[in-house]
Amino acid sequence: MGDIGIHVTDQQGQRHQVNAAPGDNLMEVLRDNVDVLMGICGGMLSCGTCLIRCEEKHSGTLPAVSDDEAEMLDALEVAQGCRLSCQIEIEPSLDGIELTLARED
Ligand code: FES
Repeated sequence: MGDIGIHVTDQQGQRHQVNAAPGDNLMEVLRDNVDVLMGICGGMLSCGTCLIRCEEKHSGTLPAVSDDEAEMLDALEVAQGCRLSCQIEIEPSLDGIELTLARED
C-alpha cells in the first residue's frame, strides 16, 4: 500500500479513502478495497465493470485515453468524464483525486 490517497464514492453513495502506490492499477486498487465486483475481465477492455467517473476538476490529472479505451467507452455509451479504471496506472499526480464508481448494475 502506498501513500497516494484516492477518494472514492461507491454506488451507495458511501465515501472511501484508499491508498495506492505508483505503478498500481487503479481497477485493482478499487476492486481490492471498495468493490469486489469490479474488473471481471481482468483489464482486457471487454466488461465495463471498472467504470469510474472523475470529478471534472481532476479530469486533466488522469492519463490520456487510448484508442482502445475510447472505443470501449463509445460502445458503453457512457457520460463525459467516465473512464475505465483498468486502463489507469497510479501516478503521484493522482494524489487527492475524487472518483465515483459508475458501473451500472
Ligand atoms: S476491467 Fe473489464 S473493461 Fe476494465
